[in-house]
Amino acid sequence: MDWGMQNRLNRIIQADTGHTVMLAVDHGYFLGPLTRLEEPGKTIAPLLPYADALMLTRGVLRQCVDAGANPTVVLRVSGGVSIARDDLSDEGIATSVKEAVRLNASAIALSLFVGTEHERQTLLALGELVNEAEEYGLPVLAVTAVGRELEKRDARYLGLCCRMAAELGARLVKTYYCDDFEKVARGCPVPLVVAGGPKLETERDALELTYASIQRGAIGVDMGRNIWQSDHPIAMIRAIRAVVHEGATVDQAHDLFRELSGARAMAVVAGS
Ligand code: R5P
Repeated sequence: MDWGMQNRLNRIIQADTGHTVMLAVDHGYFLGPLTRLEEPGKTIAPLLPYADALMLTRGVLRQCVDAGANPTVVLRVSGGVSIARDDLSDEGIATSVKEAVRLNASAIALSLFVGTEHERQTLLALGELVNEAEEYGLPVLAVTAVGRELEKRDARYLGLCCRMAAELGARLVKTYYCDDFEKVARGCPVPLVVAGGPKLETERDALELTYASIQRGAIGVDMGRNIWQSDHPIAMIRAIRAVVHEGATVDQAHDLFRELSGARAMAVVAGS
């Protein structure tokens, strides 16, 4: 592998653990100012020290992130549809590879919409992006998007999407956790990271999802809402890190979350 490509991947995937905690804050590119990401800079700044990489768009990067903080950037380059439409699959490339290089991105990301009317355009966009990005030693991360159809998240469908993404040249794939996730991981010859999806009922649920993902073959998470929509986002990202990088169990990570969020101290006081 070329030095530049290896170096960029090493910025994302930590050498000491082989794992990564990416913080996803790119949602506004089709969802607008969703809850607790209304002012991205305020959401991002306190979490930045705990994120191995930030996934975001060029607009938020330029306007809301301090270049001096030296974040590892995974730049979302696809777009073109909004939540105001029924069909979310009609995406194209909205940000060029040249712009990604100018912004010192460590990887670029686009969504694939396999099985939709726009399957072909998103798959060919991946191929073209890989052709160009590889010239610069820039890894492409493919996101196996499901749009509004969250029920699509099963091993058969995600296994198909992940394998296709890898075959077309993605260096990393972001997908969802599902039953039989190990089958998805086994069929995908490049590293997988897992998205959190919509906020789960409890922090423990998100820690369970993270733990199961790592146990079954993911190298990490690219998580957003289950971190920054928590009432205690710093405690949450630190608990996620404990699972991903330190091999913590769900109980250990949840204890850490409770300790950092002050919940455990309050429970002791209440019981005394
Ligand atoms: C979709 O909006 C983006 O690709 C997100 O980066 C992705 O869904 C991960 O964020 P979350 O954990 O909130 O699903």
